[in-house]
Amino acid sequence: MARVQFKCYSRSSSPLVLCVFVMAVARGQVRYSIPEEMTKGSLVGNIVQDLGLDIKRLKSGRARIFTEDSREYIGLNVDKGTLIVKERIDREELCAQVSPCSLHFQIILENPMELHRIDVEILDINDHAPVFARKEIDFQISESALPGARFSLDSAHDPDTGTNALKSYTLNPTDNFDLKVLSRNDGSKYVEMVLKLPLDRETQEEHKLTLTAFDGGNPQRTGSVRISVIVIDANDNAPVFSLPVYRVSLFENSPNGALVIKVTATDNDRGANGEITYSFSRSSGKALDLFHIDTNTGEITTKGGLDYERVKQFELNIDATDKGGLTDSSKVVIDITDVNDNPPVISVISFSNPIPEDAAPETVIAMLNVKDLDSGRNGQVKCSIGPNLPFKIRPSAPNFYSVTTDQLLDREKISEYNITITAIDEGSPSFSTNKTLTLKISDVNDNAPVFQRQSYTAYVLENNSPGVSVLSVKAHDKDSGNNARISYFLEDVLVNGVSASTCISVNAESGEILAVRSFDYEQTKEFNIRVKAQDGGSPPLSSNASVKIIIQDQNDNAPQVLYPVQSGVSVVAEIVPRSADVGYLVTKVVAVDVDSGQNAWLSYKLQKATDRALFEVGLQNGEIRTVRQVTDKDAVKQRLTVVVEDNGQPSRSATVNVNVAVADSFPEVLSEFTDFTHDKEYNDNLTFYLVLALAVVSFLFIVSIIAILSVKCYRWRRERMFYKSGANLPVIPYYPPLYADVGGTGTLQHVYNYEVCRTTDSRKSDLKYVRPCSESIISLDTSGTQTLTHAQRGKLNNDDSFDQVSSGE
Ligand SMILES: *[C@@H]1O[C@H](CO)[C@@H](O)[C@H](O)[C@H]1NC(C)=O
Ligand SMILES: *[C@@H]1O[C@H](CO)[C@@H](O)[C@H](O)[C@H]1NC(C)=O
Repeated sequence: MARVQFKCYSRSSSPLVLCVFVMAVARGQVRYSIPEEMTKGSLVGNIVQDLGLDIKRLKSGRARIFTEDSREYIGLNVDKGTLIVKERIDREELCAQVSPCSLHFQIILENPMELHRIDVEILDINDHAPVFARKEIDFQISESALPGARFSLDSAHDPDTGTNALKSYTLNPTDNFDLKVLSRNDGSKYVEMVLKLPLDRETQEEHKLTLTAFDGGNPQRTGSVRISVIVIDANDNAPVFSLPVYRVSLFENSPNGALVIKVTATDNDRGANGEITYSFSRSSGKALDLFHIDTNTGEITTKGGLDYERVKQFELNIDATDKGGLTDSSKVVIDITDVNDNPPVISVISFSNPIPEDAAPETVIAMLNVKDLDSGRNGQVKCSIGPNLPFKIRPSAPNFYSVTTDQLLDREKISEYNITITAIDEGSPSFSTNKTLTLKISDVNDNAPVFQRQSYTAYVLENNSPGVSVLSVKAHDKDSGNNARISYFLEDVLVNGVSASTCISVNAESGEILAVRSFDYEQTKEFNIRVKAQDGGSPPLSSNASVKIIIQDQNDNAPQVLYPVQSGVSVVAEIVPRSADVGYLVTKVVAVDVDSGQNAWLSYKLQKATDRALFEVGLQNGEIRTVRQVTDKDAVKQRLTVVVEDNGQPSRSATVNVNVAVADSFPEVLSEFTDFTHDKEYNDNLTFYLVLALAVVSFLFIVSIIAILSVKCYRWRRERMFYKSGANLPVIPYYPPLYADVGGTGTLQHVYNYEVCRTTDSRKSDLKYVRPCSESIISLDTSGTQTLTHAQRGKLNNDDSFDQVSSGE
């Protein structure tokens, strides 16, 4: 049997291209080769030609295909006598890796029965790409892995056979890894990835690679898988602080817990290797007590207690440590900023207290030290002193001030000062401090005592008892203490020629003026003394005041009858001629009262009269006048008693007897008065009365002579006294104290000198002044009724010669 073989190769990609098949036609046996995956209906072979049959035979023989398994991939077209693809033929499904891959079936003919075996070889086409089992391969590789480390990869699978099967692999990129294809003992191949360069998680944490498998078909098909390499961290990085030195300023009054700064360190490692804890290194010293660092966050906070004045800068050494123990260190420099938190402090270094009021201006009173712990403007201090004070403050050295007086002081105006010193710093807001110095001004004796009045007048009743208080003078001294302790002294002036101290004394303590003795108005009506007030300063200061002491009259003297002269021995009679008319002035009773004023205002009254109807007495002037015509029947001898009374309270009086003779001739009078005085036995003895009258006249003459001499003598003494005392006393008339108290009313004889300015008769001449020679004239007291008081007074007067009568100025 001839065997024909056709070969046909399709060069195009289309499976539908009909190829020439190689067939071996044996008796009854044909082989065809077709590529897999031909479309349905594609021609597989022409059995009419290849088996040598004709169409008729096919039809008559009812040709059909017989397969042993049920699937018919190939069908028979009887009309054309061709074999066609009936179903999709997948070589990989039919035969997998078995090669060659053939379909076997029989073509059966009847009438006569014929069997023809047909083999159809299915040829592989490259219809599969290499395939990996996984889409992605994950690796976790420590960055500390060393080069050469191997990591096995999946193999790809390609169902095609022959050249269409898997042929090679590539890896991309190949920066860190190389690909290695290895064969196992059984000839199978596998791939590995080999670390070429070390990994660094910090630079690239994940590597993406692609493994591609290629087959040998044409066109070539590929399959790929992604490889993900995650680099696992290793603690290969130390923490790093963001700055080598941190600088920060902080107010000293920052509260407890205030954030100072947050330091940060970074660690490129991951996880625990990158977890950083912060701490102060031990070398930070005592700053550790003042600051706190949060180990996790790196926040540095204060613990309070910052004080610029103590520490102005802190240096904190800080460490950052990761869990792997790697560290970095840095430094935080904290500059404390001053806050005006300290008031100035004033301390008194020295203080002169008290100071005398006569301290000169610019006298230093106090030295002060003023400090402010703050710095800069906060510590710049200005000092000032309260307003309206006579003091000033000025700097004497840095931080030192002196307080001085600015003007003269006067303790009498202001004895104490509160000097308030204010120190204020220039911070904002500023602090200020006050200090008050209480300065006492000590007294200096710069004020003399001053009397309340420059001159005083005191009244004192005469006959005062010695020691009686006359007046109190008072002086004030503005100074204080001893400088104001006043003593009073009587200045030793002459009062009417004698030392004032004999009349007056002054209580040194109280200033009370006392009479040393009893005064007599009739002697001294007033006098001046000076009282000195002296303080107890050293040296003492003094001033004086004049005191006029006016002695007031008391009715201590009874009127004194000057005329008619009363004498125990002589009988004087006024003669009234019988021819006298009504109102004839018989005589005038002249009396004086050494008192003054009302006490010396005299009135005259007729107390007794022989014939009351004949005479009257002038109440004011003491004139005795007839009130009716004298008649012959009137007795020659008339006797009148006149009372002289002063107006004092109580009043004092004196009586005087006046003899009046009503006669026309002297003998008649004589005869009458002989009888009048000496009874009847001298009645006619006219001669005797003449002699008696002569004797009386002579006696009066002698008395007058003595009186003139006394006055002369007295004047001489007075002039000497005036010369001594310089007083300007006017000439004073005196009257001799020669008047006896006729009425026995207690009127006294005195050695005083009396001032008399009366006329005996307004119609006659004025009474002439008669002056005693001296006070040593003997009293011609005839009454003997002088009281003890008067006697003493007289004695006193004689003793101390306090005998002038004031001039009535
Ligand atoms: C000074 O201050 C004291 C106490 O505050 C006060 O008693 C006194 O009266 C003051 N003196 C003067 C002169 O202001
Ligand atoms: C008395 O004081 C006056 C002024 O007050 C003075 O002129 C006179 O000298 C003083 N007299 C004596 C004795 O001190």
